[in-house]
Amino acid sequence: MKQTNTLAPLITYEGIEGAGKSTQMFEVSKYFQQVCHRRVLITREPGGTPIAEKIRAILIHPEEENLDYKTEAYLMQAARVQHVQEVIIPGIKTHDLVLCDRFIDSSTAYQGVGRNLGVDWIEKLNAFSTQTLIPTLTFFIDIPVELSLERMQARKKGQRKNDRFESEQVDFYTAIRKAYIDIAQKNTSRIITLDGTLAKKDLIEQQITKIQEVLTA
Ligand code: TMP
Repeated sequence: MKQTNTLAPLITYEGIEGAGKSTQMFEVSKYFQQVCHRRVLITREPGGTPIAEKIRAILIHPEEENLDYKTEAYLMQAARVQHVQEVIIPGIKTHDLVLCDRFIDSSTAYQGVGRNLGVDWIEKLNAFSTQTLIPTLTFFIDIPVELSLERMQARKKGQRKNDRFESEQVDFYTAIRKAYIDIAQKNTSRIITLDGTLAKKDLIEQQITKIQEVLTA
């Protein structure tokens, strides 16, 4: 049972498109819910609340070609403000574990570096939107850009049309991946880089071990 006044760890997942974050996060949440009987909240950014999901729809819509990069950055932050207030902060107070698919590092990598808006500016916006809340732990699932492109291509052949971010060029994903590597190097106590080319089972095991360490610390 969760003790009063203890805040649950906030664990975030980061990586370029096709890294497998969402599937792994879901499997990890299932393990802690079903095997360990923990109260787990899973959520995502941009999104996670009705307002933030509406903002998400604008952000990822493939036909929103005129969306200015600064507008994109502010919309990401607007969605984050809602999400932190409505979901993350209440979530860490009422659950044992909060797992979030993308968070502040996505803005730093995608808008700060990928869109060239500047890391310092985005970090300030991140701090403002999150009330300086920093994840307890972040898994950066690292895959080569070629694999990311292959997986996006495969999705295209399936039912789903690529979204606005999935329609970018190789240079964009290369810059984002490099940005994540730099962010991870600057935040070694928080960010764990995992080799996303490993078998899903191994990746999930590594994540479970790390989260267990955090939960028992
Ligand atoms: P998803 O594909 O992981 O659901 O995320 C949608 C896209 O949003 C993804 O391409 C990354 C992008 N994104 C940003 O550019 N900045 C952000 O701050 C977040 C949270 C996501």
